[in-house]
Amino acid sequence: MRIEVNRDSIGSVDRLTSSVHRLFQARRIRYYMAKITLLPTHASAEVPDGELLVEAGELAGVEMEAGCFSCSCGTCVAEVVSGMENLSPATDEELDVLDQWNKDSGTHRLTCCVRLLKGECTLRTGH
Ligand code: FES
Repeated sequence: MRIEVNRDSIGSVDRLTSSVHRLFQARRIRYYMAKITLLPTHASAEVPDGELLVEAGELAGVEMEAGCFSCSCGTCVAEVVSGMENLSPATDEELDVLDQWNKDSGTHRLTCCVRLLKGECTLRTGH
């Protein structure tokens, strides 16, 4: 079986993830959650495993900077202070954009195309 994934289907998955999260919250159902913390405000939130960093930041109440939402402009770059091991691996596309912005891929990621897979992550926003 082959599953095609494009930008539209990723958006659908994100909307479905957010809907499931709200449903579970409304019914007070607990499930395994990741945690994001954003510096310098120290705002934090528990988010569903696999949440996009930009969405996780919004759930923490932080207005996240972003432009294209497709891993191509670099506007959403953030420093990963801790928890890099809990993030989805960088794609060639992301590495190219980070290189264009002269950002080290070992310390910076694009929040619109990276998911917090599990555990905790601390980001410093604003660049
Ligand atoms: S918003 Fe453009 S790369 Fe993330």
